[in-house]
Amino acid sequence: MCGLEWDLLPEVFAPIYSPATGIALDFLGLAGDSAQTDTPRFPGAPGAPRGSLLEIGSGTGVVAVAAALAGCGRVVAADINPAAVLNTSMNAARHGVSGRVRALRSDLFDRLDPGERFDTVFWSSNYVLAPAEYRPRTMHERAYVDPGYAAHGRFLEGAPGLLAPGGRVLLHFSSRGDVPALRRIADRCGRRLDVVRRTAVREGEHEVEHMLLEVTPAADSARRPEVVR
Ligand SMILES: C[S@@+](CC[C@H](N)C(=O)[O-])C[C@H]1O[C@@H](n2cnc3c(N)ncnc32)[C@H](O)[C@@H]1O
Repeated sequence: MCGLEWDLLPEVFAPIYSPATGIALDFLGLAGDSAQTDTPRFPGAPGAPRGSLLEIGSGTGVVAVAAALAGCGRVVAADINPAAVLNTSMNAARHGVSGRVRALRSDLFDRLDPGERFDTVFWSSNYVLAPAEYRPRTMHERAYVDPGYAAHGRFLEGAPGLLAPGGRVLLHFSSRGDVPALRRIADRCGRRLDVVRRTAVREGEHEVEHMLLEVTPAADSARRPEVVR
């Protein structure tokens, strides 16, 4: 991807079978002219996250490593899947940014250092909604499915509290997920969701809309351009 080679371990979300990783890179200003070009655009990429980044659900680590290559000085890459944590560490080492990318196994925020704050908190999420009682059978399935949106609820609730002053919480979601359900959960926990980027792609027979949602406390609502309904 992006003109670079990456390790991909079994059981880890595979960017080669989904456009989502390329779209995430594009949304964050880390891709080339289009998400899948061969032109790397990492060093000093305009619009890319600066300062510190917490990536929840790092998978292979492509986004976390790209952010470090683009100039993020401190990247924490968390994933619930141990294979993804190893995969992220391998790709950080492969691209010489192990000193700036810390990969850790964590269910969302539960293994972060207390008091750690970030300029950007980002999650390209497992946005397919399953019934609340459903139990994913494999870690790979957890890359796609969130029963009852329980993890999304915890993310919306907890992520804004991890921001450094002026920081942003960004959630990559799609029309394969249940946007109204997500919005109801956001309302319940006092969060506002605004679309800051969107793009439509063909996935098999379907046109799928991907969106980058900014999550803010509902009271901060004044300056937001567009609200998800
Ligand atoms: C759609 S994949 C995105 C992977 C990677 N960021 C990419 O763009 O290729 C979602 C990721 O979230 C992780 N994940 C799911 N639930 C999680 C949780 N509760 N805490 C941390 N990571 C989680 C999955 O293991 C998976 O790696």
